[in-house]
Amino acid sequence: MIKVPIDVLVEYEESLDPSRKISSKYRIDILGYGEISTVMRINAEELQNIALKRIPGFSSLEEASGYAKLYVEYNELLRKAGINIPEYGYAIIERSDKIYVLYLAQELLPRESICNNAIRKMKIDDALYLIEEVVLETSKIWKWNLDNPYKILGIDGQISNWALPGEEHGRDLLYLDSSTPMIRENNRDLLNTEVFLRSAPPIIRTLLKRLYLQQILDRYYDPRSVIVDLVANLIKEGRRDLIKYAVARVNNMLKTELAWLEIEPLTLKEIETYYKEDARIWTIYLSARKLHRRILTLLGKRYDYLLPDEIKRY
Ligand SMILES: Nc1ncnc2c1ncn2[C@@H]1O[C@H](COP(=O)(O)OP(=O)(O)OP(=O)(O)O)[C@@H](O)[C@H]1O
Ligand SMILES: [Mg+2]
Repeated sequence: MIKVPIDVLVEYEESLDPSRKISSKYRIDILGYGEISTVMRINAEELQNIALKRIPGFSSLEEASGYAKLYVEYNELLRKAGINIPEYGYAIIERSDKIYVLYLAQELLPRESICNNAIRKMKIDDALYLIEEVVLETSKIWKWNLDNPYKILGIDGQISNWALPGEEHGRDLLYLDSSTPMIRENNRDLLNTEVFLRSAPPIIRTLLKRLYLQQILDRYYDPRSVIVDLVANLIKEGRRDLIKYAVARVNNMLKTELAWLEIEPLTLKEIETYYKEDARIWTIYLSARKLHRRILTLLGKRYDYLLPDEIKRY
């Protein structure tokens, strides 16, 4: 496990203005925005080679360490299932306002190795080969789930969640997005969904909890949905040109080496529809969060999440 130096993080946390994404002490580089969280590097000597994902808003140490424990379990289960993941670690910071912030750490990987950056410049054949590799990696999870029906795993297959391995990492693609511990034991999610709900604006929170959260989570346990999401997201990454080939290639895999998954073939039309809907939902969600931030700021209250200015879509 990576040892994460706590002192710098305490200083960073205390000097951070999340709504403006600046700390009066340290410069940060944003490495990537996901739909939910922000991955960054803090420019401090001790943290040079570490990518950090900041998860704020834990109300007690127990809650934060419960999440961290599950995070470790998920990462180790991914390894057991045969997924290659980078070195990782975590730190829990207690802030003076008694809020706990969890920092998940990973070895910092070169920007060009992250697959959404890499695929942008790839020739069609190379890109299709990469997509095939990603689908094969995710299929290790479905195999694990068949073999371990009482403890199944979810995975987010999007292209931005993978990195081309450096020489020291072995042959398989590296899976980066291991921060949401998707473990289901006897059909029960172990993940503390409150942590995610808390990051949503209050009006949306109830709606999410009642209607959508389960649906959103289920998607990551369903082989077909994970593949649809991977393929549709190529549009976001600027490779709409790949879609028709990717659908054909994946469908071919589903008839041959992945026939055991018993998945219906994908259609071009569903990919289009899915992408439009997905883009719409996340755009609305981000606007709602920004509005929430504005209201809290006007009320003179702290808004604890770092938000992207916009989600870049090509
Ligand atoms: N170890 C790392 N080294 C370099 N860049 C990273 C690393 N981990 C993540 N990133 C960058 O940050 C982006 C987002 O990371 P990741 O997929 O883990 O989080 P996420 O998509 O925000 O997750 P979620 O949406 O589930 O909150 C990646 O696509 C990548 O560009
Ligand atoms: Mg991601």
